[in-house]
Amino acid sequence: MARTKITLSDDEVLGKAYDGRLMRRLIGFMRPHWVAIGWAFLSIVGLSALQLAPPYLTKLAIDEHIATGQLEGLGVLASVFLTVLVLSYAFEFAQTYLMQVTGQRIIFDLRMRIQEHLQRLDVAFYDRNPVGRLMTRVTTDVDALNDLFASGVITVFRDVFTLVGIAVVLFVMDWRLAIVALSVLPLIAAVTQWFRTNARQSYREVRGWIARINAFLQENITGMATVQLFRREERHFENFDGVNQGHRDANIASIFYYAVFYPAIEILGALAIAAILWFGGGWTLQGTLELGSLVAFVLYSQRFFRPIQDLSEKFNVLQSAMASSERIFGLLDTPVAIVSPPTSAARTPATEARGPGHIRFEHVWFAYRDENWVLEDVSFEVAPGQRVGVVGATGAGKTTVINLLMRFYDIQRGRITIDGVDIRELPLDTLRARFGLVLQDVYLFSGTVADNVRLGRESISDEEVRRAAEAVHADRFISALPDGYQTAVAERGATFSVGQRQLLSFARALAHDPAVLVLDEATSSIDTGTERLIQDALHVLMADRTTIAVAHRLSTVQDMDQILVFHKGRLREQGSHQELLAHRGLYHTLYELQYRDQELAVTSSPLPAAT
Ligand SMILES: Nc1ncnc2c1ncn2[C@@H]1O[C@H](COP(=O)(O)OP(=O)(O)OP(=O)(O)O)[C@@H](O)[C@H]1O
Ligand SMILES: [Mg+2]
Repeated sequence: MARTKITLSDDEVLGKAYDGRLMRRLIGFMRPHWVAIGWAFLSIVGLSALQLAPPYLTKLAIDEHIATGQLEGLGVLASVFLTVLVLSYAFEFAQTYLMQVTGQRIIFDLRMRIQEHLQRLDVAFYDRNPVGRLMTRVTTDVDALNDLFASGVITVFRDVFTLVGIAVVLFVMDWRLAIVALSVLPLIAAVTQWFRTNARQSYREVRGWIARINAFLQENITGMATVQLFRREERHFENFDGVNQGHRDANIASIFYYAVFYPAIEILGALAIAAILWFGGGWTLQGTLELGSLVAFVLYSQRFFRPIQDLSEKFNVLQSAMASSERIFGLLDTPVAIVSPPTSAARTPATEARGPGHIRFEHVWFAYRDENWVLEDVSFEVAPGQRVGVVGATGAGKTTVINLLMRFYDIQRGRITIDGVDIRELPLDTLRARFGLVLQDVYLFSGTVADNVRLGRESISDEEVRRAAEAVHADRFISALPDGYQTAVAERGATFSVGQRQLLSFARALAHDPAVLVLDEATSSIDTGTERLIQDALHVLMADRTTIAVAHRLSTVQDMDQILVFHKGRLREQGSHQELLAHRGLYHTLYELQYRDQELAVTSSPLPAAT
């Protein structure tokens, strides 16, 4: 597993730094916050303008007061200077605060949109997309966008305004010296270009290594027990060492580019100042330039190179934000394959009513992919109140029948009806609300035991939770827990045994009192003590309810009204236990096999474990 090649997913691809189509959609998310963004923008314009003032005020102070010895008015200049500083501070505060807050609001909206979409996407989508990648969408990718909103977009304007503003002021003050000051620009452009290309490349590499580390960890942590069981720790540790080294080296490479770039810009800035002093100093001595202007030039050039550095860094932010937004929008644009019908068609009285629960499969063909039929021409009928058992070898298509009935997947051919209505014509929530589903692997959520029985339906009282648990014999182990029904459920219920989880899910189904009970029995064998409990619990659950139960233990289905025997995707036999045995077909073979196994199991384990 760790040796497997980790394919670099689209997570590392960096596209354009600017994409008009994506930007327009992002701006769509900014629109509700336009008032705050407007104020932030005004603050930025104000701030950029104000930042032009201090060097010029210095020039005025030198030329008109200090050089001429005219003290009068210097105080005024000083207070203007102070006012500029205070206002700059206010603008800067307003801009930073407004943009950060807006950024947080936008990513809040975005995360809600993603979550909403994820909840509507069908099960088939989750078959195709690994959890890790979807997590990245909601976390890292959204964060990259936050960077864009909070620091990127708007401050780019600030940098551009400042650059243009300073260039204009320089040319107005003295065009000769302006040319001298800006003569380093081609060099700066070259260095920046070098930095951008390399930084981009190494940024991409670092991201690639992070993706590999994540993939490695995800596999390793979830499979830790297997790793330890097969004593693969050392191998995995070596593999991790490799990935971790790659990550370190990629980071070190990127540090190199940053370490070269920033001092280089500083040096070029210093070079510009040296040139200003050399030429400007000469011109001042010749009397063609005022001393104040010379000082102002030096001060302006110091402010000039900062935005250039900022801009090249922001280029990266912009680039990763574009890549992230592309992936986020890709997710948001994933069509939802299974949807409720348009409301008008669905609002017929028949579909609203609870109905007796009459289920029909009519010539159903289904494949998870392409034409690899998993179910072929399956037809059967479950009358209201009837109990139907579904049996067959592993992979025969039993769980698939349930998936189709719940409309987790849509069938390719045929029809599934409930009370005469095609399930595709029922609103999804109406359809699913009819069923109580007990799955093969029981999923427990974080929260208490009682929460897990209630599963969000607050109308179920504590008393009802308790009664449901008692009815399915789950109360015994629950009351042995440290906090009884209020015991917290650890990570997906890892601290409960398979049988206990099964009993809990029975309690859950019973508490919700569904019209139709659908059950997919766990494959794992359970000790005979628990098995008896479960059998008994099942009888409670099935009482007065249409039931479809996939069973691995034939003892579960023996007294059912009808048994469906699946084999390789086809419904091969159908009838009661006695009828099927008499038929001496598949069911009979299954029964013989299991009967022999049970004999073996009983003789080899003399002590049925008590629960
Ligand atoms: N999500 C899926 N995507 C693609 N193929 C699937 C998917 N789920 C099941 N299959 C395939 O469909 C076939 C039927 O699977 P299904 O889960 O219905 O079997 P089952 O009868 O429930 O088996 P078991 O007794 O082991 O639970 C199998 O060949 C399986 O490989
Ligand atoms: Mg199954």
